[in-house]
Amino acid sequence: MKLTSLSCIALACYASAMAVPAYAQTAVGIPHLEKQGSVTQLIVDGKPFLALAGELGNNTASSLENMQPIWSKLRAGNLNCVLAAVSWAQVEPEEGHFEFALVDGLIQEARRNNLKLVFLWFGSWKNGLSSYAPLWVKQDYERFPRIKIKGGKSIELLSTFSDASRDADARAYRALMRHIKEADGQQHTVLMMQVENEVGVLRDSRDRSEPANKAFAGAVPKELMDYLRKHKDTLAPELREVWSANGSKTTGTWEEVFGPGKPDSVEMPIQTNSPPLSQEVYQTGWRKVHWPVDEIFMAWQYARYVGKVVAEGKAEYNIPMFANAWLQQPNMAWPGTYPSGGPLPQVHDLWRAGAPAIDILAPDLYLEYFDEVCGRFTRNGNPLFIPETGSTPANVLTAFGKFGAIGYSPFAIERSVSAESDLAAVYRLVSQMAPMIAAHQGKDSMTAVRLNQGDAPQRVALGNYTLEFTYTGRGRVPIAPEPGTTPQARAAAPAGQPAAAAILVAAGPDEYYLGGGGFRIAFSANTSGPATVGLGIVQEGKFVDGKWVLVRQLGGDDIGQGEILSLRPNTILRVVVYRYE
Ligand code: DGJ
Repeated sequence: MKLTSLSCIALACYASAMAVPAYAQTAVGIPHLEKQGSVTQLIVDGKPFLALAGELGNNTASSLENMQPIWSKLRAGNLNCVLAAVSWAQVEPEEGHFEFALVDGLIQEARRNNLKLVFLWFGSWKNGLSSYAPLWVKQDYERFPRIKIKGGKSIELLSTFSDASRDADARAYRALMRHIKEADGQQHTVLMMQVENEVGVLRDSRDRSEPANKAFAGAVPKELMDYLRKHKDTLAPELREVWSANGSKTTGTWEEVFGPGKPDSVEMPIQTNSPPLSQEVYQTGWRKVHWPVDEIFMAWQYARYVGKVVAEGKAEYNIPMFANAWLQQPNMAWPGTYPSGGPLPQVHDLWRAGAPAIDILAPDLYLEYFDEVCGRFTRNGNPLFIPETGSTPANVLTAFGKFGAIGYSPFAIERSVSAESDLAAVYRLVSQMAPMIAAHQGKDSMTAVRLNQGDAPQRVALGNYTLEFTYTGRGRVPIAPEPGTTPQARAAAPAGQPAAAAILVAAGPDEYYLGGGGFRIAFSANTSGPATVGLGIVQEGKFVDGKWVLVRQLGGDDIGQGEILSLRPNTILRVVVYRYE
């Protein structure tokens, strides 16, 4: 009897496991994603992990010797995680022969330095092109075909229309994930994987090889049409608009459903100095520019290919995996200035439909429209992880405090990292507040605020109070210069004046934690009762092992005799307010 019910349970488990694709099965305890409120967090060993990261230059981690002087600097700069490339060329130098000594060494060194790792799989593509494919792939251009662009020209960019390329990449990636599971399945030093890097067609708007032309002239796959129909209410507005402008057809060729493609005869400059796109055009997407169908078509092809590579890797070891996007530059018109088909927000739906195994679509965020990009990359519950960006502390606070980011990662970190940098200061602050930030992400009890010199005061309603922030610029704000978010602010701010920024947490009905710097703050009540708000307790302090530790109790001069609250540079304040008539 006992045996029977046990085997029934085993059978039921087996049956339910069989119903779920391998990529969707998560072994308990390994790094994974979990929803909290409106955002998704990375859970490592049972706790949310905020990746205070940096991405190494492309080839920095290609030998342990080259990495040797860098590890300790990363730790001194208060990083807890590093993004390092692993290339197909080094993992599989000869077909079927895999080498993992470098991967093992990177894992060992990361552990020794108390760092976590995110590996970047430079497989078929890196910045559109295919420079990290092994020589045996590069040489065999018949088996592993390149794309063709205008005029039938080949460039060093593997075509998505090759099962041989896709399967060879997927085999190597699968072997890598099998190895990482063996080497790290218990210790969890490797948290996530980026699969490929900034994919998409360059120098033309789509692949014009024979199989690509044939597919482009054929019908939009039913699977994609079904997805668009099923999700029509939540599609990216840019995509919905293109679809509806062409009659919201549910069958037809790519051009029938999404409008005409770019004629082969049109020149595609590699760079263009065409008139700048306005922020509005940037945000509303590419529909006002040209030929979105080509990008939609390529997004589907890349999603299918990369999705297959990811699914194969996940079948071995199902940790979170993401694809990163080279973004459209607002001062350069498309096409020609970013890879066509990468996971940009206007085609996120294509990626979701074509690559359900991918967990995160991530921005390489070098644009000044930081908040707008974060907004577009968190639509429809996409988790926010920023694998490449600059070292702007105000953006760090905004990403974690306002957009529920999993991680933030300046590029070529080894060139700028130091214990004295502004990034190190803001990473220290965020790491001290991390348990509190993690507890409030995705809820309406936390946000972030930023102001540039010259900006008008900003009012933020949070909990039972509205906080009004005024840029003080008094003292040195330990936040690096940034371009400013409005033309007016840029014009008003003398060069080099940093933004002020802070994470704000409403920890109780009358209690706030504020982390950051550079403001004067006034409270007003937004519930009924006595009108005047007083500063009851103001403490400067820090979190040690998640517990608040007082450094200075503030009164008198430091809080304008109880009437003026200043958040000085790089400070965490606990403020309890009260009300009186
Ligand atoms: C974006 C790429 O993804 C990185 O690998 C790197 O090459 C940078 N651009 C260079 O700025």
